[in-house]
Amino acid sequence: MSEKVRILLSEEEVNAKIDQVANQISKDYEGKEIHLLCVLKGGVFFMCELAKRITVPVSMDFMALSSYGNGTESSGNIKVKKELDESIEGKEVLIVEDIVDSGRTLSYLVEELGKRNPTSIRLCTLLDKPERRVVDIHADYTCFEIPDEFVVGYGLDYAQRYRNLPYIGVVEIEE
Ligand code: IMP
Ligand code: MG
Repeated sequence: MSEKVRILLSEEEVNAKIDQVANQISKDYEGKEIHLLCVLKGGVFFMCELAKRITVPVSMDFMALSSYGNGTESSGNIKVKKELDESIEGKEVLIVEDIVDSGRTLSYLVEELGKRNPTSIRLCTLLDKPERRVVDIHADYTCFEIPDEFVVGYGLDYAQRYRNLPYIGVVEIEE
């Protein structure tokens, strides 16, 4: 058995779309400062590429949550594995995620962070799998809607591998 990764979105396509979304964010937040919150580990590649292209001032913080083991199904049981370093009170928070799947992770996060008195909370995701949604949650900025396939690359893993691929791909198992 061997694994092969089929390219779904090339590096060029992904980067071109991040350019567009970063432009939109820079316009929407003109005159303000954005506090980017990255959901580790998957969001980290996207966060860096996005942050480099945003033209308003940004600060950044990181949080780690767990809802997945090494499989491909969400457990729905979300835990904070790493807390934020700084308070978000009075900040314009933009959560940066790799993918919205069932929506459980983001809905938990929005509820939890909402209690901490930020000025605003918005969501930005690289990928969205709308067909898989269990909880009603909608990102303010979405780079790509994709079909219900398990994807890797650009921060996304399969059992902790493939995060470093510079494109988005689908893992195919070959006999
Ligand atoms: P949700 O809580 O079901 O929306 O799951 C969100 C998290 O599950 C994401 O932040 C990813 O870490 C992980 N995830 C969901 N779908 C995929 C996928 O296709 N590939 C890799 N990770 C995924
Ligand atoms: Mg994630």
